[in-house]
Formats: sequence, structure tokens, C-alpha cells
Amino acid sequence: VQRKEELKDRIRRLLKEKNATLVAHYYVDGDIQDLAEETGGCVADSLEMARFGRDNPAQTLVVAGVRFMGETAKILSPDKKILMPDLDACCSLDLGCPIEEFTAFCDAHPDRTVVVYANTSAAVKARADWMATSSIGLDIVKHLHAQGKKILWGPDRHLGSYIQEQTGADMLLWQGSCLVHDEFKAAELAFMKKEYPDAKVLVHPESPASVVALADVVGSTSQIINAARNMAAQTFIVATDKGIFHKMQQAVPGKTLIEAPTAGNGATCKSCAQCPWMAMNSLSNLAEVLEKEHNEISVDPEIGKKAIVCIQRMLDFAA
Ligand code: 13P
Ligand code: SF4
Repeated sequence: VQRKEELKDRIRRLLKEKNATLVAHYYVDGDIQDLAEETGGCVADSLEMARFGRDNPAQTLVVAGVRFMGETAKILSPDKKILMPDLDACCSLDLGCPIEEFTAFCDAHPDRTVVVYANTSAAVKARADWMATSSIGLDIVKHLHAQGKKILWGPDRHLGSYIQEQTGADMLLWQGSCLVHDEFKAAELAFMKKEYPDAKVLVHPESPASVVALADVVGSTSQIINAARNMAAQTFIVATDKGIFHKMQQAVPGKTLIEAPTAGNGATCKSCAQCPWMAMNSLSNLAEVLEKEHNEISVDPEIGKKAIVCIQRMLDFAA
């Protein structure tokens, strides 16, 4: 405990000394989320992280999340120094969508508008017409569909098929998935709903269609927290990374939050529903990166110039 408090003090001091701002995602260590909030940074979903990073005046941002979040911050603010506690913190969606193969896929379908999920490399974004996050993907596709556009969507196939079903848009899907959300199990969730008949089910759209079908609310991490805040229900079953419970419980202290089941045999898998890359952010490597400023994100300026077009399109649309 003493070491933890020392580390937190060191981080507070270094953030001040370096005029740096901490931007954290809901899936990282709860202490890091609290520090971000306490020191004038933010804890947010990926759309809000991008917006906050762009608008914050600090010249140094520390992004506690995964690589695509740091890259997006750098693309939006090429003159800022963007640090990350661990540069190897990646994402299965990003890893499963290499630029060469994605380019060939796009080239084979030149008649389609390319919409990519935020969870991709800068190079993939540079090939896209639009970027979308889980909070705004549905609205963006609705907008494009209304204009008669055919869409090529990548990389998350579950989010893509959810949007396709909701909008009726013509969407060709890249077959990627998130290894964390892929683990939620519909049959066990249906069983859990019977055990808690008054509970509402909140699901992140990276989950399989069979799980999404059981949801009362489908949304991004911020939208899931807001749903728990705004709905009258007292109990919620939540299908997303367990990191979310930290801020969510702070937002609804009197309500009961239950992890959705991830194992196929009816037992809840305690070690599942935790992103291994988000878990690479710790108090000690956060303190170290602030001290040494060694893990700086860089994006090839030529790629950055192309990638910013699809990110800006999304931010303008969201405004
Ligand atoms: P959000 O935009 O909902 O925060 O999602 C990011 C993510 O990586 C979910 O797994
Ligand atoms: Fe990627 Fe899934 Fe981790 Fe989110 S939870 S960063 S989508 S692997």
C-alpha cells in the first residue's frame, strides 16, 4: 500500500513538473483512472479520448490505453509529445488487420466507402474514408446508407454485423474480432437473466450477435456507464472488460453490477473479460514513462496526414 501511495505521489508530482496531462481509458487500472480524473485529465471511451487529447492545451499527453489510442492522439496533435506507459500495448483487432491485406481488400471493392473502427493502425486509417468508434459507428453508417453508399467495414465483424442489422446498409465485413468480447456466452447470459429477472443487460457491441441479442442497451464504454446512471433499474449485468466496473460503480454507488458470463459451462471465468494489453498499463510504468519520457508514440507524418482525414470526418460528424 505504501509503495502504491508513493507511486501515485510521484505521478502527481511528475505530471505537474512536466505540464503533462493523463488521458485514460475505462479498462486500465482503477488507480490510473482516478489519477487521470483527479489531475485534470480524463477517463473516457475512445471517441472522447480523441477529442479530449486534441483540445487539451498540454504539450505532453500520457495516454493510458492501447496503441491505437496513442496513435490517434498523435495524428490529431502532431506537435504534441504523446507518451504511453507501454508501447507494446496493442489490440487483437489492430493485429488482425494488417495494412497490406486490408489494402488488397479495399482495392478489390473500389465502389465501397471504407469505414474503419478506431481500433486499427494509423496506416489502415490512412486507407479509409471514415473512422468510427463504437459510440458513433451506427450513426455514421446510417448517414452513409441514407446517401445510397455501399460500405466496406473493418475490422470488427461483430460491431459490423450489429450495425448492418440495425441500418439495413449494404456492408462487406472484414472478419476481425476482439479476443475479450468474443468470450461472452449467450446461453449462460440467458440463464443469468433468469436468476436476476429485474436486471438490465448492458453489452458492448464487440460482443457476438447472440450476446448482443440479449441486451437492453448496446453501447460504447461511456454509453454503458451512462445507461447504468440513467436507467431506473438497480441491477445490471455488464458484458465488457471488467475494468469498467471501477468508474461504473463510482457512478452508481447504490446499484448492483454483475459481470456477464464468459465460460461455456455456466461458471463465470474470473480471469476472462480483461484485456491483456490494457492490463499492461501500471502505476510503475506510468511513473517511469513520465520520468524518462522514453515511450514516445511516433506516426510517419505522411501516413498521419492521410489518416487525419477520416478521423476529422468522424469528429466533425460527432460535433
Ligand atoms: P470504447 O470506444 O467503447 O471505449 O471501446 C474501445 C475498446 O477498445 C473496446 O474494447
Ligand atoms: Fe482491443 Fe478488445 Fe482490448 Fe478493446 S478490449 S483494446 S477491442 S483487444
